[in-house]
Amino acid sequence: MWQKNSIISIISTFNKVVVELGMGDGQLLSNIIEHEKNPNTCYVGIEIDPIQIQESRNKLRRENVFLINESFEQVLSYFPHNYVDHFIFVLPPPCYIDKSMEKQWIILYQNIFMKLKQKGIFTIVTEVINDLLEPVTDNEVKSCVEWLGSSFAALGFKIKDIFEDSPNYYSSHFLEQFGGDQLRIRLITLILVKPGPKLI
Ligand SMILES: C[S@@+](CC[C@H](N)C(=O)[O-])C[C@H]1O[C@@H](n2cnc3c(N)ncnc32)[C@H](O)[C@@H]1O
Repeated sequence: MWQKNSIISIISTFNKVVVELGMGDGQLLSNIIEHEKNPNTCYVGIEIDPIQIQESRNKLRRENVFLINESFEQVLSYFPHNYVDHFIFVLPPPCYIDKSMEKQWIILYQNIFMKLKQKGIFTIVTEVINDLLEPVTDNEVKSCVEWLGSSFAALGFKIKDIFEDSPNYYSSHFLEQFGGDQLRIRLITLILVKPGPKLI
């Protein structure tokens, strides 16, 4: 198991830190690394399921990749404040994004806000579905976008962009699975920024 101090001392030797929460089998992180082609960036993947993390480790053997088999709540506590350049969370489980559970999950996002650098980015991709699993209407997407936008703005994030679908170079096990039912599962992406210092 990684020790807090050893993680931070290694990660701190890189120019930039990108952290994926709930990375699953590592497909997405592998694509992002290929896309960004930046050996000076450190990529940290966090996944609580030991089988998934093993699959990730089989895919991602590089000096600038650190895969941690712990809860992201635990790993977040290792990072200093204002430290991470980019957090990525693709398809958070319902207990981290459902409207009915907002009181529970808000704490995670408050922590993410604290750990992000000023001007750091938080990318979330989530799905819009309805209770009856019927085709999702434009109005349902619109009201989800408005609610998520206002929830994250209330935490201090600036909304850089919100769009339907996922970023075009993102692919993951669950994105592919959900992509097979685009009428009943519509994806939205939020690109959030931690504001920089106010200029006087
Ligand atoms: C819906 S899956 C998405 C996986 C991956 N992002 C993808 O798009 O294929 C959510 C993932 O989050 C992981 N997870 C759930 N709670 C977690 C926690 N507290 N800490 C770390 N990982 C967690 C699950 O084990 C699962 O792999």
